Amino acid sequence: MAPDRIEISGRTSVYAHLAHPSAHVGAPGAFNRGFAERGIDAVTVSVDVAPADLAGVVAGFRGWRNLAGFGITMPHKKAMLTLVDRCEGQAEAIGAVNTVRRDPDGALVGRNVDGEGFVVGMRAAGHDLRGASVLLLGAGGAGRSIAFSLAEEGVADLTVHNRTTEWAETLVEDLRRVHPDLAVSVGPADPAGRTLVVNSTSIGMGGGAETPLDVELLAPETVVAEIVVSPPRTALLAGAERRGCATVGGMSMLANQIDLVAGFLGLRKETDGA
Ligand SMILES: NC(=O)c1ccc[n+]([C@@H]2O[C@H](COP(=O)([O-])OP(=O)(O)OC[C@H]3O[C@@H](n4cnc5c(N)ncnc54)[C@H](OP(=O)(O)O)[C@@H]3O)[C@@H](O)[C@H]2O)c1
Repeated sequence: MAPDRIEISGRTSVYAHLAHPSAHVGAPGAFNRGFAERGIDAVTVSVDVAPADLAGVVAGFRGWRNLAGFGITMPHKKAMLTLVDRCEGQAEAIGAVNTVRRDPDGALVGRNVDGEGFVVGMRAAGHDLRGASVLLLGAGGAGRSIAFSLAEEGVADLTVHNRTTEWAETLVEDLRRVHPDLAVSVGPADPAGRTLVVNSTSIGMGGGAETPLDVELLAPETVVAEIVVSPPRTALLAGAERRGCATVGGMSMLANQIDLVAGFLGLRKETDGA
């Protein structure tokens, strides 16, 4: 059986995780377990950094030679776009970076694998997204990343609903620019006729009975995907299960980012290529 944590030595690579506040974040634990399971000599530490200190901390990271990179969550994903030297993938279109590689010369390369992790997780759960009719609840950082990945994946149509309508409208405009053939619009939180509903809002985080849509409107044929990680069974997931819907929890998106991040950072099992 794989150990649940690695033995830290002077050779161990560090993958930091930036948040503010940090007490609630699940990513450091998930990455440490993921690295250990994969035999990767790397450790994740949580770094609680306030927005005003972010640029200084990131500048210092350039000289940290065994820092493979760092993950980023609320509220730093947007700001990170301006602090890296360049981006890969869809990070610039999304407008947010959630992982950064530190190259040996100290250069910082940003990428966003939130949406990619979501899509890989849906595939692993047996849900084909090609041709899907999707209601996306939330147009924040994670929602934007998921929307761009759903578009790449070839969904048939996508409706975005967000508490602040302006952010949903901005996301729809940005998607149309990159994916002019996609049927995308702003709309109500109405799941009627949808094959997939995705919650990318933070509603449900920390528990509580609030749901991002009226679960009584869900039909059993609709798949419901959650991205909130903690608790693992949110009120939305519980309600969707009660309605007979297939569900996918938030840990799927997070767990599937570990391989994507390890590949992006060039972190490999100790014995690989040795
Ligand atoms: N599973 C994973 O791998 C993963 C990855 C990333 C994030 N997450 C989780 O996803 C959630 C969102 O993260 P984020 O980075 O996208 O955050 P964000 O950029 O701050 O976006 C938050 C979203 O939630 C909405 N929202 C917040 N409170 C609301 C309320 N009371 N009523 C209605 N809408 C509300 C916001 O709407 P407004 O625009 O109106 O404010 C916005 O759409 C968090 O719980 C985060 O932990 C999970």
